[in-house]
Amino acid sequence: PDTLTIGELAKMMKRPASDLIKKLFAKGEMYTMNSEISYEKAEEIALEYDILCTREEKVDVIEELLREENENPEDMVSRPPVVVVMGHVDHGKTSLLDAIRKTSVTSREAGGITQHIGAYQVKAHDRLITFLDTPGHEAFTAMRMRGAEATDIAVLVVAADDGVMPQTIEAINHAKAANVEIIVAINKIDKPDANIDRVKQELMQYELVAEDWGGSTIICPISAKTHEGIDNLLDMILLTADVKELKANPNRNARGLVIEAQLDKGKGPVATILVQKGTLHVGDYVAAGACSGKVRAMLNDRGMRVKEAKPSTPVEIQGLNAVPNAGEIMVAMDTDKEAKDFAATFISEGKNKLIEETKAKLSLDDVFGQ
Ligand code: GTP
Ligand code: MG
Repeated sequence: PDTLTIGELAKMMKRPASDLIKKLFAKGEMYTMNSEISYEKAEEIALEYDILCTREEKVDVIEELLREENENPEDMVSRPPVVVVMGHVDHGKTSLLDAIRKTSVTSREAGGITQHIGAYQVKAHDRLITFLDTPGHEAFTAMRMRGAEATDIAVLVVAADDGVMPQTIEAINHAKAANVEIIVAINKIDKPDANIDRVKQELMQYELVAEDWGGSTIICPISAKTHEGIDNLLDMILLTADVKELKANPNRNARGLVIEAQLDKGKGPVATILVQKGTLHVGDYVAAGACSGKVRAMLNDRGMRVKEAKPSTPVEIQGLNAVPNAGEIMVAMDTDKEAKDFAATFISEGKNKLIEETKAKLSLDDVFGQ
């Protein structure tokens, strides 16, 4: 379906349809409960209709609207799978990504612990795969969760010498909660004390049963050190992606997720965005959480300047007026004003003021018995 009614939209927004109709009327737009609107229009209304929504409700509505089934099937084009690499501390997530990229991120990280979610794209059999690295440290649980939500496939790295550990279980739970398919990579098989069967045995407790043991979980023994089994793992990722038939509409305003962001001395606020649908261009007006701006420059995962980013592509953008939180939704808008308005609804001070005003009004209503 490429339309929905105002009544249905109001329901999604958990607000009375009459409120929505009144608000739109105040703007000079005439609708009834049964008026059919496009999803683009619905999204526009949902974004503008801030006053009565809490931030969480608004995000819910936006996420609902972001779902691919709301798109016209004819506009949908294949997109690369987004793969998150999860697992216990030191089990080799970053080393695996290194092996895949044949670069050396591990050696550049302070103390070898990943401090942020890195995002990279690699090519295997001439096809792109987008990888998100996640930190194994306990303090980063929330961030790992966000990583899982944005992804199609989770590669669960389990060290063959160490086996299933607390954060392995945590990662399994996150992936399951987010309904993300798990591919297991049993790493460090080059080590003398590696025991693949023991790890497989342990994984059975979490309903991850190897195909050769009668289950349906893809389990790939690998060594990030010797690169053994890496090609097979990539094949399995592509195979899993094929089954999922992942698609997105590249010809619309971009929507994406903030993977990480920081203040750079020279560049100002920079944010790594995973574009999920649409195409992001240099010059686009964007909002991400309470921040907004115009994309001044865009760098790909290798630090090269690019002019546009299609679905499933990670890019670093410059031009936001502040540093957004990881996990915020980024939206591209047609105008500077729309981007600013969107951001304004996320500014908590504004919201607090609104709550105070509402409270004051409510107590007056009480006094006057309305
Ligand atoms: P965090 O980001 O801290 O959670 O760790 P990580 O999972 O990214 O692990 P990382 O890739 O940093 O690897 C941890 C240690 O294991 C490093 O010393 C790696 O050299 C080593 N290592 C990783 N993969 C292998 C492997 O396949 N074989 C062997 N022998 N060592 C490995
Ligand atoms: Mg790491």
